[in-house]
Amino acid sequence: MNFFNTIIAIPLALGTTLALASGEETYKAVCANCHAKGVANAPPLGDKAKWAPLIAEGQVILTAHGYVGVRAMPPKGGQADLSVLGFSEALNYMVNQSGGNWKTPSPKILKDIEAEIARRQKGKRD
Ligand code: HEC
Repeated sequence: MNFFNTIIAIPLALGTTLALASGEETYKAVCANCHAKGVANAPPLGDKAKWAPLIAEGQVILTAHGYVGVRAMPPKGGQADLSVLGFSEALNYMVNQSGGNWKTPSPKILKDIEAEIARRQKGKRD
């Protein structure tokens, strides 16, 4: 490997590792505390019957409402610095282990999620 290959290969390898790891890593670090075993009635990873009606709400609504928090589900899963995209990737990991097939949100879907988050947060204050 010559010098130019090396300077290209290192960031590529790093980028691939981070991209593949993020959803599952965030799930394990944050969401699994409750969603692995269903603490406080959290829908457990892999429980297709519990996830089916949630998946049916659609990616925009479910991601936004989970991010804002729902009843015993804390906002952002309790990790204050978790981004919308980071939350979305962790949720996609759970959804895709539980009968769904969601993808990383496109910039357009991410905007819709952010709009729904803002709408929901405003509603909560009323
Ligand atoms: C402290 C425990 C806890 C953690 C940590 C947690 N959840 Fe939850 N989650 C819950 C509980 C409890 C519910 C069920 C809420 C209800 O319906 O009363 C829930 C429900 C949800 C729902 C369904 C929301 C709805 O609209 O009904 C989603 C989506 C979700 N969690 C995603 C996540 C993601 C993604 C993470 C990690 C980033 C996470 N949760 C971390 C406890 C947790």
